[in-house]
Amino acid sequence: MTEPYAAAWAIDERDFPGNAGPSQILRFALRYAILAPSGHNGQPWRFRIDQDLLHVLADRSRALPMVDPCDREMLISCAAAIHLTRIALEHFGYHPGITLLPAPGDPDLLATIRLGPRGTPPPGRALFDAILARHSNRSPYQASPVPGEQIARLCDAAAGQGAWSQPVTGPAAISAAAGLIADGDRIKWHDAEFRRELSGRLVPNRGHRRDGMPGYAFGIPGPLARVAPAVVRCADLGRLRAAADRKLALATPCLAIIGTDQDDPPAWMAAGQAMAAVLLQATADGLATSFLSQAIEVDTLRPRLTTLTGRSGYPQLLLRVGHPSRAARPSPRRPLSDVLASPAPVHDRTGARR
Ligand SMILES: Cc1cc2nc3c(=O)[nH]c(=O)nc-3n(C[C@H](O)[C@H](O)[C@H](O)COP(=O)(O)O)c2cc1C
Repeated sequence: MTEPYAAAWAIDERDFPGNAGPSQILRFALRYAILAPSGHNGQPWRFRIDQDLLHVLADRSRALPMVDPCDREMLISCAAAIHLTRIALEHFGYHPGITLLPAPGDPDLLATIRLGPRGTPPPGRALFDAILARHSNRSPYQASPVPGEQIARLCDAAAGQGAWSQPVTGPAAISAAAGLIADGDRIKWHDAEFRRELSGRLVPNRGHRRDGMPGYAFGIPGPLARVAPAVVRCADLGRLRAAADRKLALATPCLAIIGTDQDDPPAWMAAGQAMAAVLLQATADGLATSFLSQAIEVDTLRPRLTTLTGRSGYPQLLLRVGHPSRAARPSPRRPLSDVLASPAPVHDRTGARR
């Protein structure tokens, strides 16, 4: 029997409603879209289907003001969901027309996706299969290096989406990155409001919620996972986290920074699609991935991370990449009924929703 938290991941592509109308096809593609990663597994997206047109909306009610005050990571997460929608639709033979940020007067409308006619699927299915296989794997990875050609494929995947991915190379840069990550932990955990926000997104290893992060995703067993929210709320574990994350970063065969030349909503949309493309490519190549966002989320540390990339621009994500030493388990997802809005909005001539 599928565990309740894993239910969303149990998709059988043979259920694809090939003979149904466009709205049913878009609805099926959304089952893949909602498997996108999101900050604190907040799943800050909403969707609306209007015949053959899918609207992707930011759900600002799910914002994380402490960790993501400008909704940068929110847009990155939603853009990842858009990328997964594209990969799923392409797998089923569609060539969707995607318009990002189509209504300047409506910053919540992040994309429209028009289904278009059915044609020939692309060759290969590795990226599509990677949607169901990808999970954040926060365990230590094997020491074996990530081959250069695989790193190059990750860089190409990001470049294809209008962002860049840059491995942190050389002992000095890796040590500096690990130090910035540790600094980020200490600074963030010292803030009681950050801990309160995080504790609200920690969920037990079994339960009713379909968002948030189960203890097992951090290697925390059941009884401890139940008390983790209270512990996190009350105790500044920054020094412990800093030491653990520093060690993890130093032992990771590849740290990759995904960045953009600008730092605004269009750039965040590019970064999110690039992140999804990189994660799928890594998964398809048998690599594990996870995130270490601390140094990017702290304003004073982010420019120091930029320096490590040796290029201008803005780091948006810091990923660990390596060969897994153990499998990761799926985190929950809210059902489609929670994220699908029904009535179609009316737009005025400026594009604002009325
Ligand atoms: C923009 C962004 C930032 C994230 N930052 C972190 C992070 O700093 N540390 C971490 O452990 N996970 C981080 N994550 C991973 C999410 O917690 C994870 O995607 C979510 O819990 C769902 O789990 P899954 O990726 O296994 O599906 C981040 C994800 C996104 C999209």
